[in-house]
Amino acid sequence: MKIFDVLVIGGGPGGYCAAERAAAGGRKVALFEERALGGVCLNEGCVPSKTLLNAAKYYDHARHGDAFGVTVEGVKYDHAKVVARKDKVVKTLVAGVGSKMKGHKVTVVKSRAIITGKGPEGFTVIAEGETYAGKKLIIATGSEPSVPPIGGVKEGLADGFVLTNREILDLTTVPKQLVVIGGGVIGLEMAAYFQTVGSKVLVVETLSKIAGPTDDEISALLQKELEKKGVTFALGAMVTGISGNTVTYQQGGKTIEAKADKVLLSTGRRPTTAGLGLETIGVYVDKGAVVTDHHLRTNVPDVYAIGDANGKWMLAHTAYREAEVAVNHMLGKRDYMRYFAVPSVIYTSPEVACVGDTEETAKARGVDVDVVRVPMAYSGRWVAETHGEEGLCKLIVEKRTRKLLGVHMICSYAGEIIYGATLMLEMKLDIDEIKELIFPHPTVGEVIREGLFMI
Ligand code: NAI
Repeated sequence: MKIFDVLVIGGGPGGYCAAERAAAGGRKVALFEERALGGVCLNEGCVPSKTLLNAAKYYDHARHGDAFGVTVEGVKYDHAKVVARKDKVVKTLVAGVGSKMKGHKVTVVKSRAIITGKGPEGFTVIAEGETYAGKKLIIATGSEPSVPPIGGVKEGLADGFVLTNREILDLTTVPKQLVVIGGGVIGLEMAAYFQTVGSKVLVVETLSKIAGPTDDEISALLQKELEKKGVTFALGAMVTGISGNTVTYQQGGKTIEAKADKVLLSTGRRPTTAGLGLETIGVYVDKGAVVTDHHLRTNVPDVYAIGDANGKWMLAHTAYREAEVAVNHMLGKRDYMRYFAVPSVIYTSPEVACVGDTEETAKARGVDVDVVRVPMAYSGRWVAETHGEEGLCKLIVEKRTRKLLGVHMICSYAGEIIYGATLMLEMKLDIDEIKELIFPHPTVGEVIREGLFMI
């Protein structure tokens, strides 16, 4: 038996961050990963999709530079080359995580780990036929695509007609017709990418809007911008069957068929907890997600669950913070997890970035708010750098306290600006305090400051 202080199952952003922090705190750590270090985020999610989207942005700029006085002849897009570059980017970053683990003397076990119980040396895990024990256990097993009960979907996944986020990033040719099932984050980012590089994309979404929890107005603007690029949307539409090269969906009482060369299944993700042996130590799981408190503790003392495995936010950056909170708690440091200022970004062009309450969620909580709408045309930099685009920033301010409760943006750089807004929320600043900050000029982010003078 190999004995450690901390066992971490799962080597994605949550797991590798937890392993690093625990090791930095002087603990002897073993990290188990059956696929590649970096998890979905680094290997088949955030990083590869951003590499592709950035290449598409260059292509778009080259083709549509005329309005800016730049005409480029003979622009070509080599999708296979872009995918090859994506593989290199992933390889570099995965190696970087490996070096970090080495630097912190974390023992990385490249194998599936199964929890087998608890003994005198702590929780026990079996990997590669070897038993590992540790007094503390961190579950960071991530999530996997949820597969809805659509007729033919399993067969489609098996024969490669239906793809998930994993396979679509490795396509070396651009499908002529791509049907995307689900207009959430993955669906929209991939729809934007493939439409830009040559596919004809149809997004079928059950809800009456795209981008789920996003502010209604921002979501409508994003839809409009994507439609301008040529993406077609079927909203209030439910996919019911997939067969041959056809996707069937119901919309407004009608049955509609759409032809496709490939189908992307992006209907949400579910925590990966089945078959892990959680029941051997009595960890409570609700609808597949490990139930945790604000220290990321499970119901079993000394067992923590972080990242997608607890199903709370399913974002890499939330997993990082959860990892820190769990390890800090383990090390006896005061810390707790707060979820009211979690930023989210959709990396389309234009980008969408949001943090905190929307008008709807504030109202649902019974909070009386002022809503400020700032058209992006208030930003000199944005006007200088865009053409024929619409953009908006919405600020949600509590009437009674004048505290900023939410910021929602659709514009270039939104994903880079939003952490400033996150800081304002986290520090619980009121708008008079924020007005005292000096924003650089000209920047797109200045619209936040501009908006505060509109109340
Ligand atoms: P999602 O939950 O964002 O969206 C899934 C959508 O599919 C929903 O709008 C739902 O109404 C729709 N849907 C479900 N069944 C359907 C059916 N039969 N027909 C039509 N529509 C249907 O899930 P998604 O996009 O798969 O993303 C999964 C997770 O990955 C999310 O939690 C997201 O936060 C995370 N992610 C985050 C990214 C980012 O932060 N930029 C990028 C990619 C993923």
